[in-house]
Amino acid sequence: MLKWIGRIALGIVALAVVAVAGVYAASEAIIRRKVDSPLPVISASTDPQALARGAYQARIRGCDGCHTRTLQGENWLDDAAQGRIWTTNLTQVLGRYSDAQLARAVRSGVRSDGTALWLMPSETWTDLSDQDTADIVAWLRSHPATGQATPPIRFGPLMRLAIVLGRVEPATAHVAAAKTKPAFDAGTEFAHGRYLAVTTCAECHGSDLGGAEVNGSVAPDLIVASGYDAAQFDRFMRTGIAPDGRERGFMSEMAREHFATITKQDLDDIHAYLNARAERMPQG
Ligand code: HEC
Ligand code: HEC
Repeated sequence: MLKWIGRIALGIVALAVVAVAGVYAASEAIIRRKVDSPLPVISASTDPQALARGAYQARIRGCDGCHTRTLQGENWLDDAAQGRIWTTNLTQVLGRYSDAQLARAVRSGVRSDGTALWLMPSETWTDLSDQDTADIVAWLRSHPATGQATPPIRFGPLMRLAIVLGRVEPATAHVAAAKTKPAFDAGTEFAHGRYLAVTTCAECHGSDLGGAEVNGSVAPDLIVASGYDAAQFDRFMRTGIAPDGRERGFMSEMAREHFATITKQDLDDIHAYLNARAERMPQG
């Protein structure tokens, strides 16, 4: 009897070891996979105007929200079971990247060595124009190396399990998914507003702007913005104060961070597109 219990226990331990090794190997294959993503033809200018445009383009897209104002990065998670994630100190990695590789990292979620990035929201910027991308790269390059290099991402056992189960996916998978759910095209008249909405709001409101869950709250379908008049939209986007005089949590914080300095023209274009989208998009 005891002998049998011993054998069963040994069998269970052996199975557990095989399962853990299997999860490790399967997740490692996904993490190390080289992504087939061509390098775009982009080179950054050193012209101060390009740099100023890039600073604006980066600000409304929140690069310095996650990577911090100094671009030195910060620690998001450090936990034996989950792993360790830092937003990269970008100033320390610029030397490892060509301009084209930086453009690819931003738009396609690919690291300089060809593997996928994780938790970098490149799906928002897949449609970023060559001009805006080159300007953002020019702005990145204007930062001399400062601070400490941030440690590379470490995948703990729970994160590896989530990767194998497909619950946590690399940026490249989010990029591919975003391409299958584009935002409604309201015509050339609204093309610039659509472009801005898709490359700024989509990070939280979804690639089709139809709403998504972020950090435990729900970013609604941007049809809601068509209920705002121009002044209300302007105030909400710059200050985070909604038409009812109240704040909207995470959105309001983010609005002040990303959009305090957005131009009136850009805001008007976004609003005009969101109005056209609300009116013309087929329902259902
Ligand atoms: C929501 C947070 C977030 C935002 C916004 C964000 N990043 Fe990142 N970014 C990350 C994280 C996290 C990583 C590290 C990913 C990894 O190591 O797998 C990263 C990595 C990168 C890398 C690769 C660095 C490396 O370690 O090789 C580049 C380049 C980069 N980001 C540029 C940008 C630019 C430019 C913007 C704005 C257009 C931006 N990021 C906005 C979170 C963010
Ligand atoms: C970093 C994430 C994030 C980004 C980027 C973002 N939003 Fe939001 N937004 C949210 C969240 C979360 C909510 C829900 C807030 C709540 O009600 O708690 C929200 C709510 C809203 C609302 C509804 C406010 C109401 O009346 O309740 C509007 C309008 C809105 N966002 C517009 C925009 C527009 C336009 C953009 C792009 C120019 C944008 N957001 C970009 C996260 C974001």
